[in-house]
Amino acid sequence: MDQSRIRNFCIIAHIDHGKSTLADRLLEYTGAVDKREMTEQVLDSMDLERERGITIKARAVRLNYQAADGEKYLLNLIDTPGHVDFTYEVSRSLAACEGALLVVDATQGVEAQTIANLYLALEHDLEIIPVINKVDLPSADPERTLKQIEEVFGYKPEEAILVSAKTGQGVDALLAAIVQRIPPPKGSTSEPTQALIFDSQYDSYKGVIAYVRMFNGQIRIGDKIRMMATGKEFEVTELGVFAPEMTPVEKLASGEVGFLAASIKNVKDTQVGDTVTTVDRPTATPLPGYRSAKPMVYCGLYPVENVDYTNLRDALERLQLNDAALTFEPETSTALGFGFRCGFLGLLHMEIIQERLEREYNLELIATAPSVVYIVHLTNGETKEVRNPSDLPGFGFIEHLEEPFVNANIILPHDFVGPIMELCQEKRGLYKSMEYLTTDRVLLHYELPLAEILVDFYDKLKSRSKGYASFDYDFLGYRETDLVRLDILLNGKPVDALSAIVHKDKAYHYGRQLARKLKELIPQQLFEVPIQAVVNNKVIARETIRALRKDVLAKCYGGDVTRKRKLLEKQKEGKKRMKQLGTVEVPQEAFFAVLKID
Ligand code: GTP
Repeated sequence: MDQSRIRNFCIIAHIDHGKSTLADRLLEYTGAVDKREMTEQVLDSMDLERERGITIKARAVRLNYQAADGEKYLLNLIDTPGHVDFTYEVSRSLAACEGALLVVDATQGVEAQTIANLYLALEHDLEIIPVINKVDLPSADPERTLKQIEEVFGYKPEEAILVSAKTGQGVDALLAAIVQRIPPPKGSTSEPTQALIFDSQYDSYKGVIAYVRMFNGQIRIGDKIRMMATGKEFEVTELGVFAPEMTPVEKLASGEVGFLAASIKNVKDTQVGDTVTTVDRPTATPLPGYRSAKPMVYCGLYPVENVDYTNLRDALERLQLNDAALTFEPETSTALGFGFRCGFLGLLHMEIIQERLEREYNLELIATAPSVVYIVHLTNGETKEVRNPSDLPGFGFIEHLEEPFVNANIILPHDFVGPIMELCQEKRGLYKSMEYLTTDRVLLHYELPLAEILVDFYDKLKSRSKGYASFDYDFLGYRETDLVRLDILLNGKPVDALSAIVHKDKAYHYGRQLARKLKELIPQQLFEVPIQAVVNNKVIARETIRALRKDVLAKCYGGDVTRKRKLLEKQKEGKKRMKQLGTVEVPQEAFFAVLKID
């Protein structure tokens, strides 16, 4: 199709502001999906995504649109994930577009990720169409939201389009605005080929399927292509577009969005952000902005049953095929046996991977508490990265430690500024600035240690602001801080999987709380079990689990066999997630106890 009739755009929004619902309506109004076939949120195809109502992987879809004057257009909608963990994927999806719909929920107003995503879109020079969503709701306040986007971003109220992604109100006007306001692609079919990979997926028959946006030139089936980041070459076996199901085509030309398969066996060869060119007429310059996604959070994953070790490895390998940001390496723990230290983009990414391993691969796992990557400067002048607290060298060997910090932007009603500043202070935050976005909404800027926001920061932020605060962060860099290693001894033996790196001023409180929590979580055994928290060879807290024989049948003196069996079954069930540490049985929750410390 003539490039002047193509529009490539994406939808950006804060979580739950209705991005996927709006995408569904656009699909419906352009006839891409029959209304009767419409299952909610067509673009969120992964089960887990539907259940959690979040968009994990970017998706793309082609829409045919006939404008009021009869002209036909081709619209490519590129869906972007909304969560901070996936900022890099958002950024790549934006790079594939000329315009963006900035969706703001009329009942909530501008939130932290609205701002973060808008800035990303502006970095890519996208034409922005502000969209005020959920106007059907009685609690919607479109006037106020319009005023907010004018005051915060400078968009005039008449630029914005009011819609209800639920009822479809305003969707026709939005489609007309997309065609009128978003510029067509600029490239040329006669230039050497440049295509941006903005997503990829692994298919067991076709190999890696790369989602591409063509910027210049064209690609045909049979063409030899080169990945510019790795220099690897492949022959194109299949090309297609998303309509919304994958539909084969003969070629993809400048301005278009589609997919290609080329018997690529490894997702690492089609890295998101890389440029594809053709071998017989290569471009000299890759498209800007390639960078590989770096894991920020690590945790140990161990099978409950040691025999599942190879199954776990196979499952991780398979997940990695579709997720280049997931890393893993074998790790052994004296407490937990053989497992893997896995790297994730953030906590949500970690939870999703764990859930998929358990659900899709039927694995029972023990996960250790998440940790960031610390940089250790040793007294002998060496530096090393530590991803697992138990790998931290002994006290005498450490010169100093550095930990990662993030820039955090928090948006909240001004009534909650006090409690939220207190929270940031508790989390060792450094106050940077405070700005009034409107008369009653405040943007707080803090620098915070990543380790402190990993665990319960988000939940606390929500509870202390009655759900009104929203937050977004980006990586700032490493800083020297006063950290110590805290170990836990059970029955006199250190449990490496429970070691943690904590700030010196918090170590005492942390050690006491953790020992207490563990006492609650570890069931009584046949013998007495002391729990000790140790810092620099000094015991700073101690609790004791008293000995007791737990006889679940004691209550059943009637002799009802089925009831006895039920109780025994239940006891067995309860035992499932236990790990035998020496002579002590420890449940999974114990390894996550650190997360519940106030
Ligand atoms: P993520 O994929 O997690 O980023 O969320 P999202 O922005 O895609 O939000 P989603 O489309 O899942 O919508 C969030 C919730 O708002 C869902 O329960 C929708 O049904 C609801 N919703 C979306 N748009 C509208 C609307 O216009 N009116 C009403 N009443 N509800 C809406």
